[in-house]
Amino acid sequence: MARWVSPIHALVAWWEMSLVFLYGARKHECEINQDPSGLDISPLVSASHDLNLAEDSGVQKVARELDNACKEAGFFYVKGHGIPDSLLNEVKNVVQNFFDLPYEEKVKIKLSPATGYRGYQRIGENITLGKQDIQEAIDCYRPMEPGEYGTLGETMEGQNLW
Ligand SMILES: *[C@@H]1O[C@H](CO)[C@@H](O)[C@H](O)[C@H]1NC(C)=O
Repeated sequence: MARWVSPIHALVAWWEMSLVFLYGARKHECEINQDPSGLDISPLVSASHDLNLAEDSGVQKVARELDNACKEAGFFYVKGHGIPDSLLNEVKNVVQNFFDLPYEEKVKIKLSPATGYRGYQRIGENITLGKQDIQEAIDCYRPMEPGEYGTLGETMEGQNLW
């Protein structure tokens, strides 16, 4: 299973920091501005290792757009992520292979707060605003060491589970 660490790592590295800024962006007013070719997240990707990225106007714009898309459409496409199509296709195949495994195998890497919210959740397990989500998911994030992002990062500290 170690073969798919690297593609998933690449795919989700940007997401971890965007979650933090989605939360921050809720304080701002958002305009409806969805480009059908995808939201350009390149400012967020460029600044993703900068602890002061919240002050970057490009990052703030991306955070507002992602926040707005989540509130208005419930999903979004992104561009400017820098991930080659070949890698995206490989990740799709690897993830499909994971979901094709029997439940007993998948649940060996169950998501919990103790795993830094990394791992597997079956359909109906995730509750949002009191409602069961109709999703089966595996959450992967860049591994984070304790204290790496101070108290801000504590919730997401952990290693991936395969
Ligand atoms: C719900 O699912 C999302 C997406 O898979 C995940 O990021 C989040 O941590 C889950 N929430 C809980 C409380 O398990």
